[in-house]
Amino acid sequence: MVSTLGKTRILLTLLCLTAAGLFYKSKWNLTDLYSLWPHKLRACNCQKCLTEGEHEFKMLIGASPKPFLTKQTPMSEDDFSWWKNVQREKRPFSFFNETVDKLFTIFPPTPQVEQQSSDRCRTCAVVGNSANLKGSHYGQLIDYHDIVIRMNRGPTKGYESDVGTKTTHRVMYPESATNVDKNTHLVFFPFKMKDLLWLLNSFAPHQKGPKRRGNKDLVMIINPAFMKYSHEMWMKKKGRYPSTGFMTLVLSLQICDEVNVFGFGADREGNWSHYFEILRNKRLRTGPHAGMQEYEFIRMLDQKKVISLFKGL
Ligand code: C5P
Repeated sequence: MVSTLGKTRILLTLLCLTAAGLFYKSKWNLTDLYSLWPHKLRACNCQKCLTEGEHEFKMLIGASPKPFLTKQTPMSEDDFSWWKNVQREKRPFSFFNETVDKLFTIFPPTPQVEQQSSDRCRTCAVVGNSANLKGSHYGQLIDYHDIVIRMNRGPTKGYESDVGTKTTHRVMYPESATNVDKNTHLVFFPFKMKDLLWLLNSFAPHQKGPKRRGNKDLVMIINPAFMKYSHEMWMKKKGRYPSTGFMTLVLSLQICDEVNVFGFGADREGNWSHYFEILRNKRLRTGPHAGMQEYEFIRMLDQKKVISLFKGL
C-alpha cells in the first residue's frame, strides 16, 4: 500500500515531468520567458532585447569600449597603435590627443544617445547600400523604426519606396561625405588622422575649408578603439579592417534594443554594387574588407536571432 505522503510525492513528480515536457516540446526558450518578466527586471521593453540573448553575444556586446569619442574617453597607446597601422600614420599619440581636444571645443563633449531602459524599446534599422534594395519595397518598414542609420552617400530621394525617407543617423568619412540635414546625427568614422583634421576644418568657425556637412551639435565621432574592437572581437581580425557597414552594425548593438538590417550583400558577381548607381568597376569586389565573411557573420547573427536580416531581391 502506498501511503498518502507517497502518493503526494508521485503526483508532484508527475506534475514536474509534465511541465518540463511541455516546456521542452514548445518552441519556448529562456529568452521568451524574459518577456514575461515584470518590467523592472527587463533590460528594455521590446519583445526581445539584444542584451537578453545568447551568453556568447551578450559577452561580446558587453566587452565593447565606449563607441563614441568623448572628452572624457582617453584612448590607450595600444588602441592608438592599431589605428596608426590602419593608416600608416606617422604623427605621435600626443598629436592625436591635441586634435581630439580641439574637436571638443566645437562638438558636444558627450554625444546624445538614448540610454537603455526597461520602459523603452529602441528599434533600429541599419541600412547598407546594397543593390539588393532595388525593388524591395522595404521603405515603409524601414521608416517604422525609431532610429534609421544610413551610410555614406546612400540617398533616399527617388528611392523612397525601397529605402524609406527617414534618416536619424548618417555614418560617413571624408571620402564618402555628403551633407546631412540639421536633424540628422552625423556619425563620423575616422579611419586616419587626416580625417579628424578634415572634420575640424569642416566645422571650425572662421576657417577656410569644405562647407559644413551638418549640425555640429549632432556630430558623433566613433572611437578608434571601437573600430579595433569590431575588427578583433567580431571579425576575428579578418580583412584589413571591417567595412563601414559592418562596424555600423556592431555600433547598433550598442545603441539599440532591436536591430533590423537592410541593404547588405554583394551582387551575383561578388561586387558591392549600390542601389543608386550602375557599377562601373566590375572588379570592385568588396574592397579591402572581408566582405563575404562579414556577410556570413551577419547571416549567422540573423540565424541566432541577435538581429533580423532583410535580404532584399
Ligand atoms: O558602398 P558603401 O561603403 O557606401 O556601403 C555601405 C556599406 O554597405 C558597406 O560598408 C557594406 O558593409 C554594405 N554593402 C553591402 N553590399 C553592397 C553594398 C554595400 O553589404 N552591395
